[in-house]
Amino acid sequence: MTDTTITRVHGRRVWDSRGRPTVEVEVTLACGVTGRAIAPAGASTGSAEALDLRDGGASFGGLDVANAVSSVNRDIADMLKGRDASGQAAIDRGMVELDGTVNRGRLGGNALVATSMAVLHAAAAAARTPIWRYLAGNQAVRIPLPEIQIFGGGAHAARRVDVQDFMVMCPGASSFAEALDWTAEIYRAAGALMKRAGKLQGVADEGGYWPAFDSNEEALDALVSAIADAGLAPGSDVGISLDIAASEFGSNGRYTLALDGRTLDTEGMVEMLGGWLANYPILSIEDPLAEDDPAGFGIFTKEYGSRCQIIGDDFLVTNAGRVARAAAAGHANAVLIKPNQAGTVTEAHEALIAGKKAGFGTIVSARSGETEDVTIAHLSIGWDAGQLKVGSFSRSERTAKWNEVLRIEESLGTQAVFSGWSALPFHH
Ligand code: PGA
Ligand code: ZN
Repeated sequence: MTDTTITRVHGRRVWDSRGRPTVEVEVTLACGVTGRAIAPAGASTGSAEALDLRDGGASFGGLDVANAVSSVNRDIADMLKGRDASGQAAIDRGMVELDGTVNRGRLGGNALVATSMAVLHAAAAAARTPIWRYLAGNQAVRIPLPEIQIFGGGAHAARRVDVQDFMVMCPGASSFAEALDWTAEIYRAAGALMKRAGKLQGVADEGGYWPAFDSNEEALDALVSAIADAGLAPGSDVGISLDIAASEFGSNGRYTLALDGRTLDTEGMVEMLGGWLANYPILSIEDPLAEDDPAGFGIFTKEYGSRCQIIGDDFLVTNAGRVARAAAAGHANAVLIKPNQAGTVTEAHEALIAGKKAGFGTIVSARSGETEDVTIAHLSIGWDAGQLKVGSFSRSERTAKWNEVLRIEESLGTQAVFSGWSALPFHH
């Protein structure tokens, strides 16, 4: 028998895709294997997320993580040494209890999630199996439908346009590899189009083109043009997916659109987005209303849920209880799964299971601050999420994840099943 007893837990500070400090954890087992993982970081965070613990003070804009790293090297290491890494749920529960706060603010959500994922890596390594298969066991899994950003916006592009992510999804592709081929052509076509229009100004935080547009609709028009320029059919081959991230510009039922200088109420937002749904081949909309507007989510889902995926991100914060309540109330039909929003792998999985139980679409997601860590690629397959969102089609912290899924799809050969349309909740 392989001895999966944890013998060493080591935290250190490393750097993320925005050049900010983050937490890396290494977990070593008695059998000699090591697992390693890095915490990601959001910019447009939900207020009920696990707390990303930062030191404050002068260095690195207050974003240093010395406290979170010492949580790992002291309290967490003391508790985990001698425990069995193959008992992920017990380990995660132990860390949550050790933290003792609702928002994981004592030890830090960043300390917890990096440790939790590192334990998973170590346990899978001890079992000599890829993480996705370690998680799936004998269960059938699908290769996820990718949501890939073409234009960045919102908090990831200095609020140049209101909408945060203008993305494409390729449910008409026959494989993940083909979905990436198509997306590569769309990304290239979008770049060429921006260049012709004199609007090429580099990329936003997740690698999508900087949104040098005069309105949100102009970005939507450009996206449809790029799909057509790539020789693909908007709506059947390829659809549009938007992350409105409405909590960034709305609260208390008031939404302030920076570009058009307009303020809308909930009904106005629903009407504007309904207009976009009527005029563009949109398959998915994330956070159409703010996190404090469940009634708005209800109105929007009732009206459009039968033909559009409606995702709760800041609204549901990868929390199983919130997902179950939203499902019962008809407040969304899909949930974004970000492990660091929950704090541990086990809690993120519970939120995903709650989503599946409700017939929701489930999308494993990266953050805007990322690294070379590819754990989420494995989670999306091992948990059979059906969808994966990791930002754009440029920059290695993004392509690392896409490339990992490519490798896994290839390793499955003819056994690989691409989720495609089956991943979308309105397509039963
Ligand atoms: P964040 O953005 O990682 O900055 O929170 C991603 C998202 O809103 O989906
Ligand atoms: Zn979001």
